[in-house]
Amino acid sequence: MKACIAYAPGTVANLVCGFDILGLCLDSPADKMEVRLTDKAEIIIRSADGYPLPEDPALNTAGAPLLEMLQDLDQKLGFEILIHKRIKPGSGIGSSAASAAGAVVAANYLLGNPFDKAQLIQYAMAGEKVASGVKHADNVAPCVYGGITLIRSIAPLDIIPLAAPDLYVSVVHPQIEVRTADARAILRQQIPLKNAIRQWGNIAGLVTGILKNDAALIGRSLEDHIIEPIRSTLIPGFKELKESCKEAGALGGGISGSGPSIFMLSTSRHTAQQVEEVMQKTYIELGIEYHSYVSMINKEGVRIEPVKG
Ligand code: HSE
Repeated sequence: MKACIAYAPGTVANLVCGFDILGLCLDSPADKMEVRLTDKAEIIIRSADGYPLPEDPALNTAGAPLLEMLQDLDQKLGFEILIHKRIKPGSGIGSSAASAAGAVVAANYLLGNPFDKAQLIQYAMAGEKVASGVKHADNVAPCVYGGITLIRSIAPLDIIPLAAPDLYVSVVHPQIEVRTADARAILRQQIPLKNAIRQWGNIAGLVTGILKNDAALIGRSLEDHIIEPIRSTLIPGFKELKESCKEAGALGGGISGSGPSIFMLSTSRHTAQQVEEVMQKTYIELGIEYHSYVSMINKEGVRIEPVKG
């Protein structure tokens, strides 16, 4: 039966002020998934690197979307997936989304592309539900589309891919785990109107800045008066790191998704590398292990490589 390899990249959700509605796609890190179409009605998921993954497909972020997809196809088909997990779960750079998006894009390719991108995102959100208890599309949408995506609504699904500006992204992942479900549970359900007004001003400014490729406007719109003050308490060194990155030339940034990763945007690779050095120095001084990355905004999203034979 047919097989392919999917490279499913990490993503930065929220983009500071756009909780659950904005996300961008990174070049690296990316999961590698070897996916095979079979004629048995079952989904088998294995980990290539000994990383523990739920074996029951209904509980697996790659498996749950495929179960829904197969149910809709109503044919005796299945998939075998071998996952090389390079994006650590609980990192805040879209680990569950990469598994879900990689699985649905690969499956669609192997089936002869019966689904459009919006349908793939609808399936992939089933994986996010498994991971965090909530369907959100701000990681899976940029992972499928590439670039920056605006999720105007998830019910009905309304995704607007935005032109990706030529910006560089520095990401640091301190090696502590923050579960998205926990980082959501601590949020307040009510917000003062004055904070909401500042927030939607920033979201409008950020989207306009992205569309106009206006780096200064993007930078001053990267403010969050609702989520960051609460979630940043889960991330050691957050406030100091953010200030030092801006001093090093970053336009701005904040918590990546639900954390603990932190991202910063810069207009050149050189500045993004200097910002990465500041990030590294902060966590060396705090005695916390970290991984760091400098990446462009990935305009392609999940990449499929056919396997011959
Ligand atoms: N928008 C989600 C959250 C992204 O912040 O909870 C999780 O990666």
